[in-house]
Formats: sequence, structure tokens, C-alpha cells
Amino acid sequence: MSTQRAQFGTRLGVIATTVGSAVGLGNIWRFPYEAGAHGGGAFLLIYIGFIFLIGVPVICAEFIMGRGTRRNIFGAFRTLHSNRCWAWVGYMGILASILILSFYSVVAGWTIEYLVEAVSGSLDTAGNGAELHNRFDHFVSGWRPVMWTLAFLAVNAVILFRGVRGGIEKASNILMPVLFVILIIFCINSLLLPKAGEGLWFMFHPDFSKVDSGTLIGALGQAFFSLSLGLGTLMTYSSYFSDSTPLVKSAVTTASLDTVVAILAGIIIFPAVFTYGCEPAAGPKLVFEVLPAIFHQMPGGTLWAILFFFLLFLASLTSTISMSEICIAFFCEQTGMSRRNATLLNTGIAMGLGTLCALSFGPMSNFTIAGLTVFNLFDYLSSNILLPLGGMLISIFVGWIVDRRLVRSQLAGTGNLPHLLLRAITFCLRYVAPAGILLVFLSGLNII
Ligand code: PFF
Repeated sequence: MSTQRAQFGTRLGVIATTVGSAVGLGNIWRFPYEAGAHGGGAFLLIYIGFIFLIGVPVICAEFIMGRGTRRNIFGAFRTLHSNRCWAWVGYMGILASILILSFYSVVAGWTIEYLVEAVSGSLDTAGNGAELHNRFDHFVSGWRPVMWTLAFLAVNAVILFRGVRGGIEKASNILMPVLFVILIIFCINSLLLPKAGEGLWFMFHPDFSKVDSGTLIGALGQAFFSLSLGLGTLMTYSSYFSDSTPLVKSAVTTASLDTVVAILAGIIIFPAVFTYGCEPAAGPKLVFEVLPAIFHQMPGGTLWAILFFFLLFLASLTSTISMSEICIAFFCEQTGMSRRNATLLNTGIAMGLGTLCALSFGPMSNFTIAGLTVFNLFDYLSSNILLPLGGMLISIFVGWIVDRRLVRSQLAGTGNLPHLLLRAITFCLRYVAPAGILLVFLSGLNII
């Protein structure tokens, strides 16, 4: 089986594609508004704790299952255990990937709108908090977001048709480093804004009086969402790793780079939020309201805006490609469907659901389920419930059920693995991750 599957060509390709999956709108759009809604500094600290204590071990678990079986999430569980119940974790991952693809494509569509506006020069207008707010509201309440969502999904499908190596790897190798550089330039710019100090204080000063169960669930959900974790994306990608790829190192590198990008995004956004009088807890709109104001005051703002939205669009694409790959690998390998048809099916479903999400800010804003719009429901359900739950089950599976020898041999790869490191990862998978996630869930249900 392993000889028939595609493999990533180079080590850089491995890191660039996993980081490409992890880094995206989650870091630049979702992290600032989640941090903003949950009080800033305390959220950041808890988030970083979750990334390294729960996220890194669970990434290792996904890698072990993916490379150890060279199968998609569903096939990996079936290969490692005969009990069919475990395959439900696979179904959960597939459901989560479709829900995320649907709402994520809407936000990616917003970046296309802003890119087009930047190119046409109409983004470059001054505005205070209220004007910036109205501008965004006016756009999302119409039908244009639907058009851009569908356009984005079409581009995503075209890249997916070309397969793993041709499309995904090449694009990520070039684009991720460029995104890094441009974020650093924007950070410097934001640090020079008049109220930079207030923004940084908000983001880095932990005020634990603001911590409640919402903060914990939000931080855990954000950690899983940002790392593309708990739904089988990293499992599917690692099934394309070569035998010599060092799993632990790749997991730590992915988590660290992803966290750095989220922090950079915070350093860009919060000084501007305070300088332009926006509301840190504005929710999903936050970044799109604030960015035009940042570009407006930068010398050569239009060019920066074009570059930024283009890169954000590409970063979204490397993430949606990875989440689509879960579904496509499943359909191809479990049902024998052609890659082309699997891609069309995945895209078709996401286009239908994505349209509902896109309309959630306008014509369908009054349609709510459990008090949430379709967009918010898909986001909450996938990020805060399905991904952590999937991560908990994956860690239990690898920690308690998978053969120790497979865990050890996969983590060590072709090199050596210090015994202590193996013990630490196994301990986290057996106890820390499942118990941590369970406690956060219980606090959300007000049980503890
Ligand atoms: N990690 C991506 C981001 O931060 O933008 C989002 C994501 C990608 C979530 C892939 C889930 C996934 F499978």
C-alpha cells in the first residue's frame, strides 16, 4: 500500500505543508477576535499552555497513526483496531472538516473582496471605528460574500485536482516564508501606532479575573482549530511523510511556528483596535474592520493591502486544501471513488453549506439554531466540540490501545528517541490530554 501512495518530496516540504495547513485564517482572523472576546492576556497564556501540553502530544498521536498506517483517518483506525466503534472518530473528523470548510471559505471569500477593493483603490479611505464597522456590515449583509465563497471553493477544487505533490507542496514551499516576512513588517508598523502600548497591555497582561469556562473552551477550541488538530488533517498529511521524517521535531516546529504567527497577528491587530476605537470583542468582524484603517495610515498602504490580502488568501487556501484532503482521501480509499469525483463531491457539499454560512451575516442573520447563526453554529460545533473531542479520542487510542512498539518506532523513526521524551509524550497522551479536555468540557457544562 505504501508504495502506491504519494509522498512529500523534501523535509522543507513536510514542514511547509503542515505549517501551511496550520497557519491560516485561524491565526490571523480567528485568534485576535477570540483573544479579544476573552480578555486578551489570560486567554493567550491559557492558549499557549493548551498548545504545548495537549496540542503537541496530540499532533504526535496523529502523526503516529498516519505514518504508521499510511491511511486516511477512517482507514487508520480500522487498520489499528478491529472494533468498528473507533471508526466513528473518523466520521466525526469528516463531518468537522466539511463544517469547517463551509464557514472558512466564507471568510476566505471576504479576503477576496478586500483584495479586489484594494486593487481598485477603494479600500484606501480613512475611517473611525463606526465607519469601519458600517463598511464591513454593508458588505456582508449582501450577496457578494456568496459569490466569493463559491469562487474560493472553485479555486480550492482546481488545486486539489492536481494531487498532493504538484499543487499543495509547491505552493506552500514558496508562500509561507513570504507571509512570515510581511507579518513582521506589519508588526513594526503597528508598534508605532499611538495606542500601541494599550494594545500590547491588553494582549499580554493576564487578567485572570476575566477567566471563566468560556475562556477555557474558547482557548482549547482555538488551539485545536489553529493546529488543524483532532479531525485527521495531520493524520492524512503524515501518511504522505517519508520514513525519515522526525515526528516529534515536526510536531514541535509546527506548533511553535503556528503560535508565533498568532502572536504576530495579535501584535498587528490590538494596537490598531485601540488606536482606531474599535471594540476588541467585536467577534468575527474584528480583523476585517481594523485592517483597512491600518493600511490607510501606512505609506504605500494600497500596495501593502494588496500583498497582505493576497497572502492571506493563499494561506487560507493551504488550509482548506488540507481539510478537503481528509474527505477526499476518505472517499478515494474507502469507497474507490476517483480523486476527481471525490473532489467534486466535497466541493459541492461545501458550496451548499458555505452559501448558508455566507448568508448568516445578512439575509439569514435571523435564522438561528440554539441562538447561533449557521456560521457561528458550524464554527462552535466544529472548533469547540468536535475537534477537542476527536483529539481526546485520538490521544486515548494512541496512549492506551495502539501497540507500544508502533508508537515507539514511529516516534523514533530512523533516528534515536530519548527514553524520557517517549515517556513524557505517552504520559501526556494517556493522562494530560484526555483529562485536560474532559475538564474543559465539564467546566463548559457548568459541572465543575
Ligand atoms: N488551522 C487552520 C487555520 O488556523 O486557519 C484551520 C484548519 C485547517 C482547521 C485544517 C482544520 C483543518 F483541518
